[in-house]
Amino acid sequence: MKTVLVAYESRGGKTKQTAEAIADACKSRGHEVTVAPLSGVGQPMLDGADVVFIGSWVEGFILFGVRPARAARTWLQNSKSLTDKTVALFCTYGVNPRSSLEVMRALAEANGAKVVAQRAMNHRSPADGAQELVAAVPGL
Ligand SMILES: Cc1cc2nc3c(=O)[nH]c(=O)nc-3n(C[C@H](O)[C@H](O)[C@H](O)COP(=O)(O)O)c2cc1C
Repeated sequence: MKTVLVAYESRGGKTKQTAEAIADACKSRGHEVTVAPLSGVGQPMLDGADVVFIGSWVEGFILFGVRPARAARTWLQNSKSLTDKTVALFCTYGVNPRSSLEVMRALAEANGAKVVAQRAMNHRSPADGAQELVAAVPGL
């Protein structure tokens, strides 16, 4: 059994739905799971988790300037230590996530994360792909 943290930034609730679907998938595999908005996640919560899922919605102008939501970028840039932490990334989008996951990955890796999986979910079916993302994380 692993201790899993699913941390998300959501404005309209879609990314929260994805986070809850990921949490359910982890629980059904017998893991202990905490789900929390990024704003409520500090270093002690990160330190206590074996695996951390980090999710954001994407913002931009549909065809350009598309990137993870500012709050998620700020959180990732805010020098939280993810040293040697197993991390999986997800985002929800309306049209096209473009390079949002790669931006999140670069920020997480700059904080020491070992990013092992990532997935973008369309906001029309935010839970679709949650099982696959969990299955892609070694040890879960
Ligand atoms: C201000 C704003 C800008 C957005 N820009 C984009 C965009 O550039 N590309 C895209 O695919 N989706 C875009 N979206 C759609 C959101 O990423 C999508 O609806 C997401 O699932 C919202 O997540 P939430 O409900 O957790 O806040 C935008 C949404 C908002 C509110």
